[in-house]
Amino acid sequence: MSLLRIENLCVNFGGLKALSAVNISVEPGEVVGLIGPNGAGKTTVFNSICGFISPDQGSFIWNEKRTSWPKPHQLHTLGIARTLQGVGLFPDLTCLENVMVALDHQAKTGIVRGLLGATDRDERKLKNLAMEALDQVGATSLAQVRASQLPFPTRKRIALARALASEPTLLLLDEPAGGLGADDIDWLRGLISSLRSTCSVLLVEHHMEVVMSVSDRIYVLDFGQIISSGNAEEVRTDEAVIAAYLGNAAIGRERYA
Ligand SMILES: Nc1ncnc2c1ncn2[C@@H]1O[C@H](COP(=O)(O)OP(=O)(O)OP(=O)(O)O)[C@@H](O)[C@H]1O
Ligand SMILES: [Mg+2]
Repeated sequence: MSLLRIENLCVNFGGLKALSAVNISVEPGEVVGLIGPNGAGKTTVFNSICGFISPDQGSFIWNEKRTSWPKPHQLHTLGIARTLQGVGLFPDLTCLENVMVALDHQAKTGIVRGLLGATDRDERKLKNLAMEALDQVGATSLAQVRASQLPFPTRKRIALARALASEPTLLLLDEPAGGLGADDIDWLRGLISSLRSTCSVLLVEHHMEVVMSVSDRIYVLDFGQIISSGNAEEVRTDEAVIAAYLGNAAIGRERYA
């Protein structure tokens, strides 16, 4: 039984076909990679799932139930959390506050009731949940530090904590390894692998080593279409994938060569 199935997703931006008939599924506890050259449509898939854009066509099937595409404010109810391609923290708030703000917003909309109790929006409980999430990303000692004072890789950890705090069923990660050094990337790999026991992950990532090592399955997008899918070995050796990446390298996207 799939946790999420997307069928025939089509998104047009004016005359540009950003996504054409994209089919993607994510099983419970699965880490699914979504890769492809710049502009392939990866973030557009995420934005469709998150309700940031309205698809022109396509079905959203959650726990085998066909439902309308979620609106951003409904994501928590479904148990979907995401990190953005940028970081998106409040710079003047502390790390703890940044995580608490996200949780508090969800508590207001009744989303973390399962975690907090039916009516309880007690600040202490919010704080405990937020501290647990900071602990999960190895940042408890930074709870009282303002986000603006942190280096980029650490801010990314806090953004991850914010997404994890609501204990999502599906976590969407958009380029979590971008801008990280080798140590942080190793750490991230370990974290993503460990998430399998609690949630599913849909991972957009340019860092091939990360995607190949943590994903159970990988989809490859090129010009808005899925050109390949399978495990790391299958995708790595697929002629269509090699051609897509070589083609892109040849026109100046050497980052993928
Ligand atoms: N809001 C928008 N309006 C118009 N065009 C858009 C919009 N968002 C994305 N596009 C275009 O749609 C295509 C897919 O973009 P998308 O951001 O999904 O690619 P991506 O695979 O995430 O790329 P990257 O690896 O650079 O992040 C691109 O051609 C992009 O320029
Ligand atoms: Mg993108």
